Amino acid sequence: MGVNTKGRKMESKKHEVPALPYEYEALEPYIDEETMRVHHDKHHQAYADKFNAALEQRPELFERPVSELLANLDAVPEDIRKMVINHGGGYYNHNLFWEIMSPTGGGEPTGELAEAIKRDFGSFEEFKKKFTETALTHFGSGWAWLVKGTDGKLKVYSLPNQDTPVSIGDKPVLLVDVWEHAYYLKYQNRRAEFVEQFWNVINWDQAGKNYQKA
Ligand SMILES: [Fe+2]
Repeated sequence: MGVNTKGRKMESKKHEVPALPYEYEALEPYIDEETMRVHHDKHHQAYADKFNAALEQRPELFERPVSELLANLDAVPEDIRKMVINHGGGYYNHNLFWEIMSPTGGGEPTGELAEAIKRDFGSFEEFKKKFTETALTHFGSGWAWLVKGTDGKLKVYSLPNQDTPVSIGDKPVLLVDVWEHAYYLKYQNRRAEFVEQFWNVINWDQAGKNYQKA
């Protein structure tokens, strides 16, 4: 809470979970409605709530975009840094995740991103293989990422928990959630099936925008 010029307490500008850009069932049959409801309404909301709770201890930080906090973790007070990494990261990563999927997704990228993938991985098929392998071999909870590095080149890697590329200077282009909560209701332990189906919902237009603004 802050105090305005009239001395009244103002509500801090809390971070909110954005509404999905499509219906909960829109990604069926690849990603089921129940998973989307639990993932968005419960898991993502919990990250937002805990992130906001951490920032309540330092309300001045509400003014700064989450991506900026995560990109400058040294500037985040030590007593809330871990909570910003975990819950701010969870909040931020899921914001990106809903946007990178679409009921009209799938296929292959076009334009500059397509060219860059070919340049840095040899072909779209090689990139697809590498991204899939990275998602499947990541041990435990985390995300697989396609990022643009400071040198402008594309890279694929995974990060644990809710760690995010912006904290190491890379710009997210594409991501897939490999926490079990992302797929367990429909696919149980079969992460490979989930990742295989994920290719059917990738919003390449959004990935292209992420690449261009990165
Ligand atoms: Fe998740």
